[in-house]
Amino acid sequence: MYGALKKYASTDVYPFHMPGHKRRLSVGPAAHFPNPYGMDITEIDGFDNLHHAKGIIRDSMEWAASVYGADKTYYLVNGSSCGILSAVSAAAGRSGTILMSRNCHKAVYHGVFLNRMKSRYVYPQFMPEYGVQCGLSSLNIEKMLKRYGDISAVFVVSPTYDGIVSDIGAIGEICHRHGVPLIVDEAHGAHFRYSDDFPVSALNRGADVVIQSVHKTLPCFTQSAILHIREGYVDRERIEWFLQIYQSSSPSYVLMAGIEQGIRWMNEEGRKRMREFSGELVEMRRELHGMRHLRLLGRNVVGTKDIYDLDISKIIVSARGTDINGVQLCEKLRRLYGLEMEMCTEDYVTAITSVMDTKEGLERLKRGLMEIDDSLTGYEEKNGKTEERQGDDTCSWELEQVMTIYEAWESEKEEIALEDCEGRVGGEFVYLYPPGIPIVVPGERITREVLDVVLRYRGLGLSVQGLKDKENRVMEVVRDGKINRD
Ligand SMILES: Cc1ncc(COP(=O)(O)O)c(C=O)c1O
Repeated sequence: MYGALKKYASTDVYPFHMPGHKRRLSVGPAAHFPNPYGMDITEIDGFDNLHHAKGIIRDSMEWAASVYGADKTYYLVNGSSCGILSAVSAAAGRSGTILMSRNCHKAVYHGVFLNRMKSRYVYPQFMPEYGVQCGLSSLNIEKMLKRYGDISAVFVVSPTYDGIVSDIGAIGEICHRHGVPLIVDEAHGAHFRYSDDFPVSALNRGADVVIQSVHKTLPCFTQSAILHIREGYVDRERIEWFLQIYQSSSPSYVLMAGIEQGIRWMNEEGRKRMREFSGELVEMRRELHGMRHLRLLGRNVVGTKDIYDLDISKIIVSARGTDINGVQLCEKLRRLYGLEMEMCTEDYVTAITSVMDTKEGLERLKRGLMEIDDSLTGYEEKNGKTEERQGDDTCSWELEQVMTIYEAWESEKEEIALEDCEGRVGGEFVYLYPPGIPIVVPGERITREVLDVVLRYRGLGLSVQGLKDKENRVMEVVRDGKINRD
């Protein structure tokens, strides 16, 4: 592993993936950060304790809260995942019901499972031209809150992996009218705070708990994240209790100092650099909108399909309607231009850019995309109108929920060839990683439609994960009549 990492570091491959520091050593917080070995300590006298913070860690987190405008901010060393688990556990409690967007990250589903909760879903809209999931309707959230009186918290993801922001102001207002807290997974939005050229953070639009992966879009180490609280609708002490359950009892000072220094740098030099960065993005996007076949997801989608805003730092390029797919586009960018994307799906690629990207890196991405575009034939030009594939991406369908995730997971199960799972109740998760959004959740009845999508993804060589069988040949489904309702 070490050898592979060293080799990757020595190549000319340009990272359009996380972490947000982009492994640059001479600029940003890394320029002044000593060798991590030299400051890797444990909770010795005078250095406070993350799980019982009353000294330097508390002071640092209070300062971070003031930067973000939160009532309380916590440093997380186990990624946004541990913040999500803690927020779900604290807000809904054991056996409660949570209303969540169906395009949430798997960590939210894990929280539901661990707490044996019931989950109800709101589904994002879908944009077939790009193959991306869109925003969440506040009206649908209100309908669900009115229909089900047992919902104790609402959990949504905004922005999505693709930079799609929902109207958190409207959603928060509805939640509060119904007396429930709004938790927002803003894992991809830690940078919003530092520039007006990016969407407004959920924390400033009425959310009660906001979780951000600083490692995704800021110059911070992988695994580092923060959780913000706005007092009023959540029990702060319960969240603190769960944070110390779901996080290591030996939290890394290197990671914590990395969070502090990342935020400090962003709040000082980073703000200026964010302005330059957004200018570079706007210029690059202007040229990319000139592509003839490939399509860049642009700000023109704002105001449609419940999309409230768009994070322009996420470069989503769809190959739909051309003679290549997202996987092939990703492969061309890697092979011909040395560009490593964050993710690809059947339809599009996602490049994560950050304030640490160089002009040369952005230029290489633009050139690669435009040259590939020049070499393509529009599928429609060649073959006539593209046949519209129906409901063929994660979350563009609604699956029947037969039982809760916990019930399904703990029921008696049997292994069935994946091809034969139609009509059965899933006993395992199925998702593409990234982005880690479940396509099938345990307890849902598997339809032909969803099965076809999973099989197609498998055929395309996309990273289908979640099944115990790493080869994705068989799936565990609930044995008929063996539901465990304990
Ligand atoms: C939307 C979203 N939420 C949460 C997470 C989990 O974050 P972390 O990797 O920091 O635990 C991810 C990870 O990719 C994500 O994309």
